Amino acid sequence: MEEEGSSAPWWQTAVVYQIYPRSFADANGDGVGDLAGITSQLDHLVWLGVDALWLSPFYRSPMKDFGYDVADYCDVDPIFGNLEDFDALLEAAHARGLKLMIDWVPAHSSSEHPWFVDARASRQSDRRNWYVWRDAGPGGELPNNWKCAFSDAPAWTFDAGSGQYYLHSFLAEQPDLNWEEPKVEAAMHEVLRFWLERGVDGFRADVISNIGKDPALASVEEARAKVPPFVFRNEPVTHEYLRRIRALLDTWPGDRAMVGEIPVFDSKEVATFYGAGDELHMAFNFPPLYAPFEAPAWRERIEVTTGALDPRDAWPTWVLSNHDVPRHRTRYGNEARARAAAVLLLTLRGTPFLYMGEELGLEDALVPAACKVDPGGRDGCRAPLPWSRAQGHGWGGTPWLPWPPDAAERSVEAQRDDPGSMLHLYRRLLAARRASPALRLGDFAFLEAPEGLLCWRRDFSGDCRFVVINFEDRELEWPQDDRHEVEVASDGRGESQVYDSRVGPHQALILKPTRPARA
Ligand code: GLC
Repeated sequence: MEEEGSSAPWWQTAVVYQIYPRSFADANGDGVGDLAGITSQLDHLVWLGVDALWLSPFYRSPMKDFGYDVADYCDVDPIFGNLEDFDALLEAAHARGLKLMIDWVPAHSSSEHPWFVDARASRQSDRRNWYVWRDAGPGGELPNNWKCAFSDAPAWTFDAGSGQYYLHSFLAEQPDLNWEEPKVEAAMHEVLRFWLERGVDGFRADVISNIGKDPALASVEEARAKVPPFVFRNEPVTHEYLRRIRALLDTWPGDRAMVGEIPVFDSKEVATFYGAGDELHMAFNFPPLYAPFEAPAWRERIEVTTGALDPRDAWPTWVLSNHDVPRHRTRYGNEARARAAAVLLLTLRGTPFLYMGEELGLEDALVPAACKVDPGGRDGCRAPLPWSRAQGHGWGGTPWLPWPPDAAERSVEAQRDDPGSMLHLYRRLLAARRASPALRLGDFAFLEAPEGLLCWRRDFSGDCRFVVINFEDRELEWPQDDRHEVEVASDGRGESQVYDSRVGPHQALILKPTRPARA
């Protein structure tokens, strides 16, 4: 995938597709997706045109946080298959030219991980220091005022057996690992080596900003006492850990890459996690994820991101949906906006991450109280992918979560049959991106445009594209002197025709100059 005249590594030119394995495809018909299910649909993903996959956790787990509570980092949970299934998936992905990234959860384990079972057994245990333990205050008080994610409960749970509190940034069943203990760092490096040796192309590192802690574990101002995202936002020691992780990755051939989840809402701070090109290859930058679908908000987020990241030679990432937030189709309120957002996502400078199902325009499922399972209230965006129109939508049993709305019409089968579908839009966008060095690697510059529109151009040694996004629900004009052809239109209107300076309501366009564009 290397660009002529550029030495860009694969992860800069790739479009990454996130798979939440429980909800992607179910090969054994038990209602929970599995690795063999993913393998069976790789040809579809190749047809769609993505370059790389990121799999959310499939490791052995009691599933209190649906796999982000890992009980064995080097084995597959039986619900997803086994290591042979993983190897088969990896081989099949590579045979099709797809890269495979996997989730690595270094900041906490499951409370059922043998390390924690050993650590809590006694204060004298060899692994006691692998987790973060503190005595209660003289009156039995908590060690500090920190609160965990998902609830307002304290981030500390008292372990009656050994008489101390342990720290957990998330659920009590997810004790934080203590990276100050060199054996923890060594063990987590071993996990990386295990999967690198098997052949994975990279990792998505879960809440990686959480591995470094304030050594004093001091109480903080009450309004900022929630551990994620506030307490360990950017400890200096985290950068030391990241440099050692990067050095490990760099010893492997093939540009093995790591994208870190940094739940910090200041892009300048996010940029620090790239170090001097010696820490993360990429970091998620979440402020745009929370931008409303309005031109000024997006312009500001794009400017802040490019301003913060590019000068440091830190390659940006872009994401609109993932397994932790309501889908952008749901957030933006209608399909026309979601289609325009797809054009935006896939034409910015940086690596886009798609979340499975956004290419189908899926909305969040409405999950009745009796079916709710996630402690973080994120079931809606994790609904299963409908593959076919027929009842059961290609799943053997009743899936673990209810279907998203209009599952038959939104199914892969229905949309593959319909050239006007959202799925075909994503396919055309991915093809246009693949065919254009400007869209993949080119410089980015905003162009002047009337209120309600955002317009930019991308340039890479002679290749050029213009992008126009209409954030308004009415037609707007963006007059152009040069002749341009509409290469992709979010609603399909006018494609392959000369651009007539009109941009329909919530329409977004990729324009291709029909003669060399003026600089
Ligand atoms: C990350 C994951 C989320 C998980 C949490 C704890 O934010 O994306 O799903 O619950 O970390 O591991």
